[in-house]
Amino acid sequence: MSQPDIQLIRGFKDILPGETELWQLIERTAIGLFEDFGYREIRIPIMEKTELFARSIGEDTDIVEKEMYTFADRKGDQLTLRPEATASICRSYIQHKMYAQDPVRKFYTIGPMFRRERPQKGRYRQFYQIDAEIFGVAAPYADVELILLLRTLFERLNVTDTTAHVNSLGCPACRPRFKQALSALLAEAASALCSDCLRRKDRNPLRVMDCKVPGCREAMKGAPAIIDYLCDACSSHFSTVTDMLTRLGVPYHVDKQLVRGLDYYTRTAFEIQTGALGAQSAVAGGGRYDGLVGSLGGPEVPAIGFAIGFDRLAEIVALNTPAGVRPPDLYIAALGEPARKLAFEWSTALGLNGIGTAMDYGDKSLKAQMKQANRAGVGRVLIVGESELESGTVVLRNMAAKTQRDIPIAAVVDTLIETFTKKEHSIG
Ligand code: HAM
Repeated sequence: MSQPDIQLIRGFKDILPGETELWQLIERTAIGLFEDFGYREIRIPIMEKTELFARSIGEDTDIVEKEMYTFADRKGDQLTLRPEATASICRSYIQHKMYAQDPVRKFYTIGPMFRRERPQKGRYRQFYQIDAEIFGVAAPYADVELILLLRTLFERLNVTDTTAHVNSLGCPACRPRFKQALSALLAEAASALCSDCLRRKDRNPLRVMDCKVPGCREAMKGAPAIIDYLCDACSSHFSTVTDMLTRLGVPYHVDKQLVRGLDYYTRTAFEIQTGALGAQSAVAGGGRYDGLVGSLGGPEVPAIGFAIGFDRLAEIVALNTPAGVRPPDLYIAALGEPARKLAFEWSTALGLNGIGTAMDYGDKSLKAQMKQANRAGVGRVLIVGESELESGTVVLRNMAAKTQRDIPIAAVVDTLIETFTKKEHSIG
C-alpha cells in the first residue's frame, strides 16, 4: 500500500466518511438537547494569547506546564492553540460585556482542542470537545442541570455504561484548612513524590492529588479528602446537588478523590467515567469555576460547565450504533456522450430537489456501472443509452423488488421527484 510522502502529525487524525455520519448524529443530538434547554452556540477562536490559558488553567497544571502548543508569532506575541474552551468563553463573555443586560447566559461550543499528550487509545493531540457553560447562576440547580444533560445525551445515544462521579472542591473560604492538612502529609511523604509533585507540593498541593505516577498515588492513599473540610455554604451547596440528582433519578457516585486537572474549579466537580475505553476513563468532565470570570478582569460572576471528549464519545457510540452511511437514492447509468449529458442534467436537477443521485462521469460499460450501483447500495437505477434516446423512454429499475418501469424522457425529473417524495411519505 502506498503512503503519502508527508504523513499526518503524530496524535492527529482524520475523521473519514463512514465515521463522520456518527459524529454528525452525536452533534445533532447534543445541539438539539442544548437548544431545548436554552443554550446558545458560541464560536471562539482556535488560538488565544498564551497568558489567557496560563492564568485560567493554572501555571502548575500538566496542561500549561507540558502540553500546550505555544509559539511566538512573527511579531513575537506568545500564542497558544486552545487546549480547552472554558477560558476563551470567559474572555469572550467579559470582552463583549455579555453580563451587562443579564449575567445569566448559557453557551455551547463544539470544536477541536490541542494538547501535546502522549497519544494512545482515546487520547489525541488534536481532539474535539462538546462544551457547555452556564454563567451567572450561583445556585446548585445549574450543577444539577449540567449533570442531567450529560446523562440525557448519553442515554439518547444509547451509552448507558457510564457513571457520574461527583465531588466538591470547596471554595477560598474552606480550602486553606484542607491545604494545611494535605501539606502536612506531603511533607512526610516527600521522598516518595515525583519531581513534578515535589515542585508543586507547596505552591499547589491539590495538583499532587491528581498525579498519575504510581509512587505519588501510593503516597496519597491516606490523603485527607477535601469534601471533609467544606465550609457550611459549600457543604449545603453540595447536599442540594446530590439531593436534586436523586430527586431527578440521575445516578451518581460521590468520589472523594476526584480533583480534576485544571486549577479554576471551586465547589462541584464531576466526571462521567466509563470502562469502555481502557485507561482513558473520563468521557466528560466539568465543574464550577466561580472565581474565574472575576480573576480575568470581569465582574464576580459565578459559572459552571462541562466538556465532553467528542472522540471518546464517538468511539463508545460506535460500539453499539453501526455508522449509517446514506446511499444515494438513485444511480443513473448512461451510455454514450449524448445520454451522459442528459443524465448529468437530471442528476443535478434531482440533487437540487433533495434526491441523492450517483452516476459515472467517464465512459464505463453498463456492466461496470451496474456493479458500481450495487456497491453503493442504491435502491433504484435509471438506464439511458442510445436506444432509450431513440424510443423517448428510459427504464427505472427497482433493485430490491427486481421490477422495472418505463418513464417518458420528457417527464423524468418530475416523475422521479414524485416517486421519491411518495416513497418518503410511505416510510413516514
Ligand atoms: P478536561 O477534563 O481537561 O476538562 O477535558 C474534558 C474532556 O475532554 C475529558 O474528559 C476527555 O474526555 C476529553 N479530553 C481531554 N484531553 C483529551 C485528549 N488528549 N484526547 C481525547 N480527549 C481528551 C476541560 O477541558 C474543561 N474545560 C471542562 C469544563 C468546561 N469545565 C468547566 N467547563
